[in-house]
Amino acid sequence: MVEDLSFKRLPCNERAAVEIVVEGRKVIAYEGDSVAAAVMHAGLRPTRKTALSDVGRAPYCMMGVCFECLMNINGKANIQACMTEVREGMVITVQQGARELVGEIR
Ligand code: FES
Repeated sequence: MVEDLSFKRLPCNERAAVEIVVEGRKVIAYEGDSVAAAVMHAGLRPTRKTALSDVGRAPYCMMGVCFECLMNINGKANIQACMTEVREGMVITVQQGARELVGEIR
């Protein structure tokens, strides 16, 4: 991951810093940031791989419509990163393909 210069943070002195872990790396975000914004600012691309073709994807609409931002957050897959606010200690990883189904399918 390399800090992406196309995502510059505006000055924000009023929000508290929050430390999250993105793909094993500690990253500083700010209260109120979405996970999608925080990982893009951290330079993480792609944020998920598709289930059928393993193609890399990244957040697109940033408003909960396209579902391109699905990530693993705190061990749960298929979480919309653009609709999830960062929390101290959050662990975020790239979602690889479809999430695993747990339990028996009937
Ligand atoms: S970026 Fe489109 S739903 Fe999250």
